[in-house]
Amino acid sequence: MPDQESTEQGSTLITGIGELVTNDGDRGGFAAMTDAALVIAEGKVAWTGPASRAPAADAVVDAAGRAVLPGFADSHAHLVFAGERSAEFAARMAGRPYRAGGILVTVEATRGASDAVLRANLRRLAAEMLRQGTTTFECKSGYGLTVPDEARGLALAAEVTAEVTYLGAHVVPPEFAADPAGYVDLVCGPMLDACAPSARWVDVFCEDGAFGADEAAAILAAGRAAGLLARVHANQLGPGPGARVAAEAGAASADHCTFLTDADVDALVSAQVVATLLPGAEFGTRQPFPDARRLLDAGATVALATDCNPGSSFTSSMAFCVALAVREMGMTTEEAVWAATAGGARALRRTDIGHLGAGARADLILLDAPSHAYLAYRPGVPQVAAVWQAGCLVAGRVT
Ligand code: NIG
Ligand code: FE
Repeated sequence: MPDQESTEQGSTLITGIGELVTNDGDRGGFAAMTDAALVIAEGKVAWTGPASRAPAADAVVDAAGRAVLPGFADSHAHLVFAGERSAEFAARMAGRPYRAGGILVTVEATRGASDAVLRANLRRLAAEMLRQGTTTFECKSGYGLTVPDEARGLALAAEVTAEVTYLGAHVVPPEFAADPAGYVDLVCGPMLDACAPSARWVDVFCEDGAFGADEAAAILAAGRAAGLLARVHANQLGPGPGARVAAEAGAASADHCTFLTDADVDALVSAQVVATLLPGAEFGTRQPFPDARRLLDAGATVALATDCNPGSSFTSSMAFCVALAVREMGMTTEEAVWAATAGGARALRRTDIGHLGAGARADLILLDAPSHAYLAYRPGVPQVAAVWQAGCLVAGRVT
């Protein structure tokens, strides 16, 4: 286990940090210090403060003026799938609109794939995320849509993350096209029974062409009765009831939030539902970007995530999402980095990640840059030099 390993390794002092993003200020938002140091012990952050006052440790890493950030918390990803849809992307870029129907192309490929193929694809994407600084990610099912295919998707997801989400309610599969109510019964009954043991979360795609308000509310209630916490795909493709349904269900997060009314924004704020924005999806579908500024100014908690999936958003890069959020969604660099770290943690109801206060899990990124702003300032450039997860150096190098 990571804790044991880092005990064996002893403590590590990272010093010479040009900017240390801790997100542990009194006001709860972005917080950082310059000329800083950080000590890792037993897989956790043991100390942070000025480099000049750093305590001794068993090993010392010189950050040489570079920035250290909490690892990214990517709270929305669909990684259990087979096949790819680059031709659909190219067609969209040539002017065809995005519709939820493309999901079924991936459903067919996923159903036909062996466990080994699905596992290899999942592990490749998980490794890709880690190299780019994502130390926690959520992973949904949703491309199986039969009892055995959803259950196997979740069992595979549980091999690589603790944040596993049951999304049997992604779309109605073709064999239920004439009986969508029958499919909702399946999702709330036998499929849920088979899936709940592997999952922490239940999600529903509440949208025209997927599931309506009443269906979504019933699915979330059934999930809750089986011990799952709620999250919702809401208001992605147009105005609709998703955000309201999320607020009424006490969901941790409403995701996408691209088309919100003022009443939707108020509902999210008063129910303290995190608004998780997924700019990779707007990039990949040529839709307008969600208005993060409006949500922040209304007092909402905003998270950023990749939505990594083969249809609408085939990126695993949180840095790309940060850059889009700053350039296109009215976020400051500080707000965007907070949303990609602490915001993702909030969306997953986690207090041990997303910040680097003493006692936090030692999930951190050493950037090849002097400040967090470089994530947006140098878009598309790989800048993650090294990644620690629970105190262990798991990717990159420190020199
Ligand atoms: O989050 N919104 C629904 N699901 C995915 C798209 C999945 C797909 O196109 O395969 C999303 O964008
Ligand atoms: Fe999604």
